[in-house]
Amino acid sequence: MLLESVNISKNYDGDAILKDVCLRIEHGESVAITGVSGCGKSTLLSILGLLLDPTKGELLFRGERASGFSEDEKAHVRNSHFGFIFQNPQLIGSLSVLDNVLTPAFLGRKNNLQTRAEAILGGLGLKSRLKHLPSQLSIGQKRRVAISRALLLDPVIIFADEPTNDLDSERAARIGDLLFGLPLKGKALVLVTHDPRLMQRASRTVQIHEGILRELSVSAAAMSALEREEY
Ligand SMILES: Nc1ncnc2c1ncn2[C@@H]1O[C@H](COP(=O)(O)OP(=O)(O)OP(=O)(O)O)[C@@H](O)[C@H]1O
Ligand SMILES: [Mg+2]
Repeated sequence: MLLESVNISKNYDGDAILKDVCLRIEHGESVAITGVSGCGKSTLLSILGLLLDPTKGELLFRGERASGFSEDEKAHVRNSHFGFIFQNPQLIGSLSVLDNVLTPAFLGRKNNLQTRAEAILGGLGLKSRLKHLPSQLSIGQKRRVAISRALLLDPVIIFADEPTNDLDSERAARIGDLLFGLPLKGKALVLVTHDPRLMQRASRTVQIHEGILRELSVSAAAMSALEREEY
């Protein structure tokens, strides 16, 4: 078992956002998380990624109680094993595209990753933008920089929050190919999405509804997105 949440609950200001969420994520698996805006998808992703403490419950990473880790230990796990694609790209404004992608290498004190960073950016159509600052990019380009940054250190789990927002369908399909290629290499992908095309590619889709996590069948997941006329 790679990552497991056991009865995770999260309260904000007395409101129960997540209630007893149990989710097991294995190597080679892709899990899509869906649900209406504000239901707690990003909150769950942050808890699974050790960025946010749950109010109650346990998180196990490779069988170890991650909830008991110190802040330094959590940071070490995040930097060494996790890749994050946030809902908002969160690039550092004063750093070039290339340096933004290299930030996980600086944090992890890993050298010689410039060629890899350039190759990932090139693969996402950003070869001519390496020296640009984030303020000089379109929102879709920023998103692709954030995706490149998440892939730099070849993490074992990628957490992706609406990774194809702001991308045209061709680019979205290419990002999908890239992300869903990771479970084939034994990694795990946990992604928040409303996109039925991404849901269909995931090994499982789960939905958060009034704080409760439930499994959806693939067709039900795609239908529920279509019914809301998001596509
Ligand atoms: N730091 C916080 N303090 C108080 N309430 C918060 C905080 N962060 C999130 N919330 C609340 O928790 C709920 C879930 O937020 P979250 O960002 O997880 O939703 P989401 O499902 O990702 O929504 P969206 O699809 O719009 O991104 C929301 O009602 C939000 O207002
Ligand atoms: Mg969100």
